[in-house]
Amino acid sequence: MSWLVTGGAGFIGSALCHYLAEATDDRIVVIDKLTYAGNRQSLSSLEMDGRLELIEADITDFPMMAEIVEKSAPRSIFHLAAETHVDRSID
Ligand SMILES: NC(=O)c1ccc[n+]([C@@H]2O[C@H](COP(=O)([O-])OP(=O)(O)OC[C@H]3O[C@@H](n4cnc5c(N)ncnc54)[C@H](O)[C@@H]3O)[C@@H](O)[C@H]2O)c1
Repeated sequence: MSWLVTGGAGFIGSALCHYLAEATDDRIVVIDKLTYAGNRQSLSSLEMDGRLELIEADITDFPMMAEIVEKSAPRSIFHLAAETHVDRSID
């Protein structure tokens, strides 16, 4: 079983990934573009344990998203990728 988390290298997403790793035995697949807001370091312990796979990708890349969803067959998708800086999100 796996969980798919978009924006998993962000503030909320990384906390969620650590929670999922503690609360379940499932694999965690993260899709993150690693923008200025993404921090791979926040997931490094889970990556090193082999609990989590981080895929650097943009959620607007539909064919890529379809492929990842098909391959990982997640039980659920948490969508947390976002442009959270107010000025940038308006753009
Ligand atoms: N931080 C809060 O207190 C808070 C409170 C309530 C709701 N939220 C909501 O939770 C969500 C996440 O917020 P956050 O604070 O973790 O934001 P964040 O900016 O810390 O993280 C966003 C993540 O999304 C990634 N990302 C951005 N665009 C992407 C794209 N096109 N494709 C793939 N990845 C992309 C970034 O690299 C980053 O890792 C947002 O929808 C936000 O509105 C946050």
